[in-house]
Amino acid sequence: MKSLLAHHVLYYIVLAVPLVLLTYWITRRFSLHKMKRVVMKAEHNYQQQIAALQVQLSGKVNMLESMVEKLQLSNQELNRLNEIRSKFMSIVAHDLRQPLTSIQGFTSVLMMDGVQGSGNEDQLALNNILKATDNMNQLMADLMDISMIESGKFKMDFKHFTFNQLINDVYALQQVNAQKKGLFLVRYEYPHDVTVYADRFRISQVLNNLLGNAIKFSPQGGRIELRYFLQDGWLVCYIADEGPGISYAEQNKIFQKFHQADTERSAKKQGWGLGLSIAQEIINAHNGEIGVQSAGLGQGALLWFRIPVDPSAFEI
Ligand SMILES: Nc1ncnc2c1ncn2[C@@H]1O[C@H](COP(=O)(O)OP(=O)(O)OP(=O)(O)O)[C@@H](O)[C@H]1O
Ligand SMILES: [Mg+2]
Repeated sequence: MKSLLAHHVLYYIVLAVPLVLLTYWITRRFSLHKMKRVVMKAEHNYQQQIAALQVQLSGKVNMLESMVEKLQLSNQELNRLNEIRSKFMSIVAHDLRQPLTSIQGFTSVLMMDGVQGSGNEDQLALNNILKATDNMNQLMADLMDISMIESGKFKMDFKHFTFNQLINDVYALQQVNAQKKGLFLVRYEYPHDVTVYADRFRISQVLNNLLGNAIKFSPQGGRIELRYFLQDGWLVCYIADEGPGISYAEQNKIFQKFHQADTERSAKKQGWGLGLSIAQEIINAHNGEIGVQSAGLGQGALLWFRIPVDPSAFEI
């Protein structure tokens, strides 16, 4: 009887085990299949997104390429126009300067000799011709400088010289102009000789423009101060006037080519707005700095520059 029972139990076990295994296998297979489908769907979505992004990206790349192409074309055109402009400026400056110098020379001779039978009016006319040619000559010189700056041919001629001496020369010249306008030009002499290694002609050009501006823009009776001194290896020079001053907004702009502050005085068309841009190039070529200080319109202006006394300490 016992053995019959054991036989039955064994029989059910033998039957149940494969059934359980079969059920386990079927459930597992189905859940795996489901998971696989989910993963595949996610992968599909992901690939679709990547494809959409690729399309978007290639569209942007195409757009960028066409923009770069357009930029290159306009750059080429700009370079071409720039070359024409530089050429034009150098032709104007060179070819007009020669006849101008002849006119100036002959006018001076006529003025000195006095044209036979000429009266005061003729002398006045000759004087006007000379003034006009002087102005034109200055413009030619400035245009030539600008054209050299733009073509990278604006080179400095460095030599040792005594700065005090240069100041004396510039002062003597500008003192005459200041007196003509009823201005007091005061120079503060530095008690020691200052030897600098710089381009004497170009530094005198900077000084003449700064003093010329101070004289040009100051009202009659104004005072102009010219100072220079040594400070930590720098030669510092400044020119202060009691003229109309320069507004804050204009202070950044006056060193730009052809820029003239938008005030009544500029409307009188004195100069071309080139002096300070050339001065800045010159000072930069000396590894120096140039700047302006003015408390605003009507407050006078102080223009300053500094250059290293010993440029070997810097790279030039
Ligand atoms: N001392 C100053 N006082 C007031 N404004 C000044 C002074 N110096 C320069 N400026 C302003 O800066 C502008 C630019 O000066 P910059 O020397 O470059 O040109 P310019 O004197 O007008 O002409 P150019 O120097 O070519 O003969 C001037 O037109 C003027 O508006
Ligand atoms: Mg000037």
